[in-house]
Amino acid sequence: MKKRWQFILALMVLVAGCNKENTKEDVSFYQPSNFPAPKYNFNNNPVTTAGFELGRKLFYDPILSRDNSTSCGSCHISFSSFTHHGHAVSHGIDNLLGKRNSPPVMNVAWSDEFMWDGGINQLDLLPIAPIENPVEMDLEFAQAVQKVKTSSAYPKLFKAAFGTEDITSARMLQAMSQFMNCLVSANSRYDKWKRNEGGSLSADELEGYNLFQAKCSSCHSTDLFTDYKFHNNGIKDNFSIDSGRAHISQQAADVGKFKTPSLRNLEKTKPYMHDGSFQTLEQVLEHYNSGVKVSATLDTLLNKNGVVGIPLSANEQQKIILFLKTLTDDTFITDRRFAEQ
Ligand code: HEC
Ligand code: HEC
Repeated sequence: MKKRWQFILALMVLVAGCNKENTKEDVSFYQPSNFPAPKYNFNNNPVTTAGFELGRKLFYDPILSRDNSTSCGSCHISFSSFTHHGHAVSHGIDNLLGKRNSPPVMNVAWSDEFMWDGGINQLDLLPIAPIENPVEMDLEFAQAVQKVKTSSAYPKLFKAAFGTEDITSARMLQAMSQFMNCLVSANSRYDKWKRNEGGSLSADELEGYNLFQAKCSSCHSTDLFTDYKFHNNGIKDNFSIDSGRAHISQQAADVGKFKTPSLRNLEKTKPYMHDGSFQTLEQVLEHYNSGVKVSATLDTLLNKNGVVGIPLSANEQQKIILFLKTLTDDTFITDRRFAEQ
């Protein structure tokens, strides 16, 4: 019986285009037709509605922090595409500052390298890092599990999700992955245009799209708008505060390289870059046009044949921005299933 159920779930994961048809309570992972195959292995942890609901409860529960003040949702807010919009670097427990900008939690199923430096390579282990981080939630993970065990809200949720009331670290992590894996953003006007679902782009937006394809898509590639690789895009020439990928690899060749971010929902996620150093898209485009700083690891795409940066006229910059705004996905941002209940 259990096998059969698992089989049905696996099938749902493979074929269900659930997002639009589902009611508020019914949730599962879905694969947009314009995305590549996901990297997350759903065979080990298929999404169920009860697992998603448990994961959501944990994601928004401040008991996972030392003083019950901070939840994952404090820095990953649904209406700002799961970022901490307006904050250059994250604000955690005791109002302590981190050193990096909170990235959006979206489309994580397609990634297997997380954080700006790729320092974590499994979604199922990721929550341990912010929970234990002294400037984020500052609680030993084992203690977080203990607090969940003593909270009366949880046994019935674990039973619904996993069949028994046992509360274990593995189940907690699996449920949080189920929730995060459902945070799929793929219904912007661009997507509807791309999939022939009735969306349209204006002449200016289309021109912006073509410019983007020619000048930006080698790094911001596929409809996820990232190659998930690490590049130095020249926002600095001194990375002593944060060496990026080199912090993990310990290779001089990786100094100043950061994971290419997706460009979805940019209208909701400012400020931009790993350190939140740009407030507007105009500043970002002007950076690529005239602000790129040369250093040993600057990406060769940004220093070709003696030309530093990506020369773009004011008009071209505006058109690219118009295109980038077509990537705002209001259905994702306002999906009540994803918000704190
Ligand atoms: C104090 C703010 C803060 C809290 C609380 C927080 N995060 Fe984050 N989150 C960040 C920052 C900053 C990063 C980027 C870290 C880095 O690059 O080193 C991040 C990165 C991530 C990423 C990686 C995204 C990507 O595309 O690489 C995920 C997923 C994530 N957090 C989930 C969570 C979960 C789950 C929790 C709760 C257990 C949580 N976060 C709590 C600030 C926070
Ligand atoms: C060589 C690879 C590369 C190219 C080419 C490139 N980018 Fe980027 N882009 C990156 C990387 C890497 C980052 C993150 C850098 C950091 O935070 O230190 C980034 C960051 C951004 C951000 C900030 C996103 C956020 O959430 O913080 C925007 C917007 C952006 N790029 C747009 C563009 C546009 C538009 C173009 C073309 C004009 C372009 N990029 C070309 C690699 C590239």
